[in-house]
Parts: sequence; structure tokens; C-alpha cells
Amino acid sequence: MSFTIAVAGKGGTGKTTLAALLIRQLIKSGRVPVLAVDADANANLNEALGIKVGDQTISSKMPRINNSLEPLPAGMTRERYLAYCVHKSLAEGDDFDLLVMGGPQGQGCYCYVNNLLRGFVRQLSSNYPYIVIDNEAGMEHLSRQTTNNVDILFITSDATVRGIRSAKRIKELVENLSLAVRNMYLVINRTAGDFGELLKEEIARTGLTLIGTIPEDEQVVGFDLVGRPIFELPDESPVVKAVSGIMSRTKIIEEP
Ligand SMILES: Nc1ncnc2c1ncn2[C@@H]1O[C@H](COP(=O)(O)OP(=O)(O)O)[C@@H](O)[C@H]1O
Ligand SMILES: [Mg+2]
Repeated sequence: MSFTIAVAGKGGTGKTTLAALLIRQLIKSGRVPVLAVDADANANLNEALGIKVGDQTISSKMPRINNSLEPLPAGMTRERYLAYCVHKSLAEGDDFDLLVMGGPQGQGCYCYVNNLLRGFVRQLSSNYPYIVIDNEAGMEHLSRQTTNNVDILFITSDATVRGIRSAKRIKELVENLSLAVRNMYLVINRTAGDFGELLKEEIARTGLTLIGTIPEDEQVVGFDLVGRPIFELPDESPVVKAVSGIMSRTKIIEEP
């Protein structure tokens, strides 16, 4: 059974950064191979990990597979074509592979294709002891269960009241949809100094455990500026250390 970690949160709060650093630390501690899943419509986990991917996501192919009027490539059944698309959406890195799911598929019922996809992803997942999913806030793939059940969901927020409220809504969404998530934690990113009383109250109101904070870091900004993968941050980076701390507190890995 794979151990599945997912990251969700409002756009720009650090989901991809956290997902990439979780993968970095899993690899550093020898928990390989990792399956990275980019389930955000605005897919860019590959950039954070420093690998190239094709421009075709699984989601972008689903309308074609779903629509019996649109012809599939010669000699392909829908099932085989989807298997081919999943295979094409898998990019290989050192010690990890990346599966790019892509965004929502739009109108229509995708039950049939989703069921097939679920089967493929489950089968693929079984080859990896650890899976890290970079989700969007809408939890599209989690709610369609096209990705695995989740052992730990980290909900990211910035240190603002609005961000924390948005984290609370994501938590409620997970509960209302009865998604298969075992544990949920709040992670506040880009912190600088202490939280004010207002923010502390807002955090308490989420009902989430604040499992860690990640400091605002110039080096992350610098890497971003030149398009350098966050994955390459040095061990002594405060951001890397913060993520290690979070992983040890959640018992994903022990701190060295
Ligand atoms: N701790 C941090 N310090 C400085 N910049 C950060 C930090 N975390 C994230 N960023 C920057 O903030 C932006 C949004 O982060 P990202 O991880 O892409 O968010 P999301 O995936 O939630 O949209 C990126 O430009 C990223 O480099
Ligand atoms: Mg992102």
C-alpha cells in the first residue's frame, strides 16, 4: 500500500512549493520511488521539480475518450487509448515520476472514463511507496476519486485572515464531500514574525491543527525569478528545514 500525501489550498499559497519539497525530502530519506501527481489545472509542479513534461494532460484527452462520436486513433478501444494517454502523461525524473492530470473536463458525464482512469491510476500507484499530489482548491480529482485515498492532506494558507478562511472552506469541502482523507493539517506559508491575535483566532476557528509554518524566504523568490527548480534548494534552506519539521511531526519521516 502506498502512503499518499496531498496538498491543497488557495492559488498562490505555496501548494506546489510544499509538494516539491515533500518530494525532495522523501527522496533524500530514501523513500523512493515517489509518484508525483499534478492535479492542479494550472499545472506547474514539473517546473518546481525541474523536469520537462509534454503539453498533453490526461484531462485534455478525456472529452475525446468520452465522446463516442469523436473517432479514436485507428484500432484503439477507449480503454486502450486512455491507458496510452496515462502513459504519455507520465514524466520520469530521478527517483520520482510525475503524472500530470490536468484541470476540470468541463460539461458532461465522465463516469465511464473516470472509472477507467481510477483503475489505471490505482494500478500505477501500486508501484510507488509514496505518492504526493499537488491539488487545486476545488479538489476536482479527489472528489472524482481519480487519485488515491489520502493519508495526509496539507492545506496551505498565507498568513492572512482571508487565506485562513479559504483553508477552512477547503476543510469543510473535504468533510462535506466525505472525501477519503485520513488526516488534515494546516500549513501557513510565507510567514514573517508572529501572528496577531486576529489571525490566531481565525486559525483556531478552522478546527485544523497548525502543523507548521514555512518562513518567507528570499532564496525561494530568487529561484523563482530565474526559473530555477525549488527542488534544488540546499539542505540548510530554512524552507527545507521547515518542511522537514512538518514531515517529522506528522511521522512521515524522522528528523535526522
Ligand atoms: N516560503 C516562501 N518564500 C518566498 N516565496 C515563496 C514561498 N513559498 C512560495 N513562494 C512563492 O510564491 C509563489 C506561489 O507559490 P506556489 O507554490 O506556486 O503556490 P500555489 O501552488 O499554491 O499556487 C511562487 O512564486 C513561489 O515561488
Ligand atoms: Mg501550484
